[in-house]
Amino acid sequence: MTTPQHPEDFLHSIRRRSARENGIFQVDDLRLGVFEPEAARRVSATNWHRYVMHDRLVDLVRRRRSPEILWSRVRSAWMTRLHALATAEHQGLLVERMERVMDERLGEDVDLTMLMQDVTLRSLLPVALDGLTSAEEGLVRRDLEMKLSRLVSPEPGGPLHHLRHIVVQIRAGLVVRRVLRQRADGRRRREPDLADPFVDLLPELGMDRALDVVTTVLTAIGGPPGTAAASLLYEFVRHPEWQRRLADELCAVDPVEFRTAPTRVAPVTHRFVKEVLRLWSPPLLLVRRSTYAFDLGGARLEPGQWYLLSPHLIHRDERVWKQPDVFDPDRFLPGAPHGPADRTSYVPFGWAPKKCVGANVGTFQLMALCHLLCTRYRLTVRRPDGITMALRFAPVPENFRGRLTLR
Ligand code: HEM
Repeated sequence: MTTPQHPEDFLHSIRRRSARENGIFQVDDLRLGVFEPEAARRVSATNWHRYVMHDRLVDLVRRRRSPEILWSRVRSAWMTRLHALATAEHQGLLVERMERVMDERLGEDVDLTMLMQDVTLRSLLPVALDGLTSAEEGLVRRDLEMKLSRLVSPEPGGPLHHLRHIVVQIRAGLVVRRVLRQRADGRRRREPDLADPFVDLLPELGMDRALDVVTTVLTAIGGPPGTAAASLLYEFVRHPEWQRRLADELCAVDPVEFRTAPTRVAPVTHRFVKEVLRLWSPPLLLVRRSTYAFDLGGARLEPGQWYLLSPHLIHRDERVWKQPDVFDPDRFLPGAPHGPADRTSYVPFGWAPKKCVGANVGTFQLMALCHLLCTRYRLTVRRPDGITMALRFAPVPENFRGRLTLR
């Protein structure tokens, strides 16, 4: 492979090539970049519409084929559960958990990127897997934090760190297995979380696939929500005029209405969050393997071939957006001349049918963060001019230290 070492250089170089080669080109020996919006939509829709989960390990050992489970069934169980959790009460609990983590660090000089990671992960964990003892929660969090530190750190740890992480990963996996088994046996309370629907499906799904399903959600809450929250804080600090506009709106909203219909009662805040997610979409690249053959104009994608997708590159594409590098939430006003050309050009949560199931929770959490920053906390940043945005697995603000105090 000819991938340059530094992820930042790699991303800048594929952005330049994408502009020259209409968004579809061979990125390296192995991977085709599919950064043209309509092609990305089409490839995703076809490749995933009948995606099936196999139980490979058990099948190999028992020399049989376990029942196939359609991924769409897993997703519909998640979506039913998330729909049930979209109440003022549950959203209120999520905000209380965010406050608790932020209150623990009041007045301290902290790395704000790490703080946002902590706030999002600890507040979202009960949505994914609730009712853990503190030792169990510690292990699951440790696993996700280690996974993330490998992805965001400029110098990922050496082999020893890697080995330690494998041990933590296995132990965290054992926690998830135990929780599911004990819920199934009636030795542990059932919880209204995203893991629970799979307790009833265990006989059909088997423990390995159930673990995969729960791990998918845990990994999903352990990365993008935290980097998105840090990016939001970064834009909040850089735009005092938007701080004022958000405060004008958020100081006046009814808290119950805000929790049930946030995008309706706080449209300015919603635009701000959408613009943060346009400019700083995590993750920067999604690596996928094609199941079908595609004719993509100048290039072909063959079955079994790897390809890359990138909401980030689509959001920064000058053929799709006017002045894509400028932060301007008002581009999401209806009819704005610099707004999204069509539905394929704004994809912060990916593409159907693999699109993020937590898009509404994620959006609400970012809007709730704006609410807290305007009504409960005062944020002081040590050196606002020194903050830089590093492009790792996701955009990550660096040199971002400051403190929160109560208003
Ligand atoms: C601002 C926050 C978030 C962002 C930017 C984000 C973004 C994404 C993206 C880009 C994908 C990949 C979609 C694709 O492959 O086309 C994804 C998948 C996923 N996300 Fe999120 N996400 C966020 C929050 C959440 C939350 C809060 C949850 C859970 C409550 C969640 C659960 C998931 C799951 C389960 C998947 C995998 C879906 C599948 O494989 O079918 N995400 N997310």
